[in-house]
Amino acid sequence: MSAAEPVDLTVADLHPALGDPALTSMNFLNEVSERYPAAVSLAAGRPYEEYFDLAAVHRHLDTFHRHLVDDLGHRPEQARRLLLQYGRTKGIVHHLIARNLAVDEGITVDPEDVVVTVGCQEAMFLVLRALRAGPMDVLLAVAPTYVGLTGAARLVDLPVWPVAGGSSGVDLADLAAQARRARAAGLRPRACYLMPDFANPSGVSIDTAHRRRLLDLAVEEDLLLLEDNPYGLFHLDDGPRPPTLKALDTGRRVVYLGSFAKTVLPGARVGYVVADQRVAGADGRVGPLADQLAMIKSMVTVNTSPIAQAVIGGRLLEHGCSLVAANIRERAAYTRNLRHLVAGLTRRFPAVPDRPAAVRWTVPAGGFFVVVTVPFPVDDALLDRSARDYGVLWTPMAHFYDDTAPVRALRLSVSAVTPEQIDVGLDRLAELITDELARRAG
Ligand SMILES: Cc1ncc(COP(=O)(O)O)c(C=O)c1O
Repeated sequence: MSAAEPVDLTVADLHPALGDPALTSMNFLNEVSERYPAAVSLAAGRPYEEYFDLAAVHRHLDTFHRHLVDDLGHRPEQARRLLLQYGRTKGIVHHLIARNLAVDEGITVDPEDVVVTVGCQEAMFLVLRALRAGPMDVLLAVAPTYVGLTGAARLVDLPVWPVAGGSSGVDLADLAAQARRARAAGLRPRACYLMPDFANPSGVSIDTAHRRRLLDLAVEEDLLLLEDNPYGLFHLDDGPRPPTLKALDTGRRVVYLGSFAKTVLPGARVGYVVADQRVAGADGRVGPLADQLAMIKSMVTVNTSPIAQAVIGGRLLEHGCSLVAANIRERAAYTRNLRHLVAGLTRRFPAVPDRPAAVRWTVPAGGFFVVVTVPFPVDDALLDRSARDYGVLWTPMAHFYDDTAPVRALRLSVSAVTPEQIDVGLDRLAELITDELARRAG
């Protein structure tokens, strides 16, 4: 938009979230990658595209259609209506999601407690919209946090209070302190949002003993936990995965947020929320929080596309409802890439005996993301220069903190690149960092 262009409205007259960094962050990052299409992107957290298969999408649709007729006993015209007509607000693959959670995660859920959503993003929005009852409500969130969560909170006018993450994934003393500080200020902390498995962007995971302590603390502090788990299946090693918080949750403390973007197809835009908390309605009847979320959903997206749900449902059915089984190739590709990236960093920034490392990085046990720490602030201007002059994209960690303090770290993603692209990207990144260190030293 040029300065001379006529203006009918200003952003100051629209919802205050518009123009907030949490909402503009994604646009900015997309814009930079569009401006420099030749740059290697270690920024995008998208899934690997090599296994995308259009023919499989048709097959999944047919598989789900057959399931409706053969397994669930629908007449053909009923099945056709279920796929093509407006539909049930809470979704039509809820029973398969419940089965998937039982098979892969050992979580027992009543399908009625599941709302199928337009991506996990809508699930977050519905939960935050429901929890924000008034101006005294606040959300605690482990920092750094997923920017989509912060943006959704902004849209429902719910302030986000950061909780230290640290190397354990959540600093329990800080969580308790923040909850108490909020209460002392007359506020009501409703929930704490976190990603216990290979968090975006930190890559950190919470171990099982700490998960149990977190659940105990949630009871003590009377907090809900919003568990977001898009990356949990992509662990490097073959040992047992830690149980999800929801699997350990015996007191309905955990609202579980799921996404099929990384485990099936992002283009389907299907996610879900398990919300089994019992809510007493205005009429005195008790039902799951899922029903309240569905009420909100009916005014936002009406229902999640049944065609998209059927694609997800078909894929689940074809793998015995196991996404572990469905993602063997994908997991192998992410494992290969993550190991390649970490080895590549080690080669390019070798340790010097008796000298503290200027450049450090995390070595996550899985997921998509590695955080590189450098001895200078990493901001959008540096990203722009990196893309323009060095041909490599990454994400400034500052985008994942809800303040303006300088951050000396960047996020690298391994999910949408080949090992060859990782090599080229790391060569370019090493050149940028070396030049930047020299510039600052000189
Ligand atoms: C932590 C986290 N939660 C949620 C999402 C969004 O998921 P969806 O594409 O299902 O909306 C993402 C996407 O990158 C994510 O990293």
